[in-house]
Amino acid sequence: MSANPSFLNPGEGESVFSVSSSPIKFGAGALRELGADAQALGMKRVAFFVDAHVLASAPGETALGALRAAGLDVAVYDQTRCEPNSDSFEAAAAFAREGAFDGFVSLGGGSVIDTAKAANLLSSHPDELIAYINAPIGRAKPIPGPLKPHIACPTTCGTGSETTGITIVDLKSVGLKTGVASPLLKPTLAIVDPTTTETLPGGVVAACGFDVLTHAVESFTARPYTSRPRPAHPSQRPPYQGSTPYNDIGAIAAIRLGGKYLVRAVRDAGDVEARHQLMFASTLAGLAFGSAGVHIPHAMSYSIATLRHEFVAAGYEDRDPMVPHGIAVVINAPAAFRFTASANPARHLEAAAAMGADTKGAAPEDAGEILAQIFLSLMRKTGLPSGIAALGYGEADVPALAKGAFAQQRPLVMAPCSVSQQDLEGLYRDALRYW
Ligand SMILES: NC(=O)c1ccc[n+]([C@@H]2O[C@H](COP(=O)([O-])OP(=O)(O)OC[C@H]3O[C@@H](n4cnc5c(N)ncnc54)[C@H](O)[C@@H]3O)[C@@H](O)[C@H]2O)c1
Ligand SMILES: [Fe+2]
Repeated sequence: MSANPSFLNPGEGESVFSVSSSPIKFGAGALRELGADAQALGMKRVAFFVDAHVLASAPGETALGALRAAGLDVAVYDQTRCEPNSDSFEAAAAFAREGAFDGFVSLGGGSVIDTAKAANLLSSHPDELIAYINAPIGRAKPIPGPLKPHIACPTTCGTGSETTGITIVDLKSVGLKTGVASPLLKPTLAIVDPTTTETLPGGVVAACGFDVLTHAVESFTARPYTSRPRPAHPSQRPPYQGSTPYNDIGAIAAIRLGGKYLVRAVRDAGDVEARHQLMFASTLAGLAFGSAGVHIPHAMSYSIATLRHEFVAAGYEDRDPMVPHGIAVVINAPAAFRFTASANPARHLEAAAAMGADTKGAAPEDAGEILAQIFLSLMRKTGLPSGIAALGYGEADVPALAKGAFAQQRPLVMAPCSVSQQDLEGLYRDALRYW
């Protein structure tokens, strides 16, 4: 069985790509403008989504202060869960339904922003969560119409969720992490203030920073948009188009920034330049993958994040044991890129060089190993686990991990080559222990 993306020859497939950009405000101090921006969007009664840590931090104070100074009626919801699940989404949706809000503001990492997206969806167009979840796991019901305005303010340099049309959830009924994807989920405005990263623990920066690098490298190595069939009608052009010349610009810039600043940003909380630049990389990578799509490392991450909850990562010591998203993804990256490189060695080498690898004189058949090695070098320098065995997985778990990953057809079809369930088993075996 194979997730065959049915590649077309050049000239036979899609010839058009689209760019639907998100309004973004970026820069130190941007958060202080939140109240004026909420007012400009017509918000009067605001649901403010946050988590307890961020609420107690300086960005929490700045954001709430700005909303209240603008005279807005603000109700705070701080019960969001780090790596949200279907229960925490339902609880947030109940809060949103009862509050009769005319606008949403989220301040936090991907967990908070995704929770606000789900609460906005489930209160604006009430239905069961499973109705909207991607097929084949859910029913992929199209979202019936626009949501309420949502201003997303990230405080982690990772997910890029502030510009993407996706929300990710650990779906308890099926024991899988998956999501809802629709352009209608895109926040109305992203306010990206890089000073928010200054309070992040180094371990959280490591997890988030690898999310950035994998978003960027997966977008850059995704199947080209020209390999997809041409849609019968423009409205059928999918939100994830594959790599396009436009997405490539942001992706390669994010890879360069991640390669240059990730280790510094993890090791030294006082290295403001590194943290701010990583935040910029996060936004660029979010824009790239939000349009191009991600592929195998992300598809493999979802079963790693859901099958066992035993791992406690540095920086997450006071949370329930779990594998943070960026770690669950990058742990597969060396194995996955060794597998995909032969589909497009030049792109894999270009990504490796942008991350800082020496690719002079490299042969096409070395591309996968060179890209894998530069990931491994950054993983070792930032104290990441040595493979999925360190997260509690063993050889006996491989079939279940591969079954869960194979169900993730939305990202798998964006890979530059087809990948079967058996291939995924091989990739998890390769990822058991890298050093
Ligand atoms: N929707 C998307 O496009 C998208 C993309 C990638 C990942 N995700 C999802 O996002 C979630 C992960 O989000 P994340 O990596 O941003 O982390 P997170 O939101 O889970 O936060 C990680 C930890 O950092 C803390 N924190 C956040 N900001 C802080 C700050 N400024 N100072 C101090 N502590 C702070 C939080 O309290 C939390 O404990 C996962 O559920 C993942 O699946 C979504
Ligand atoms: Fe991600």
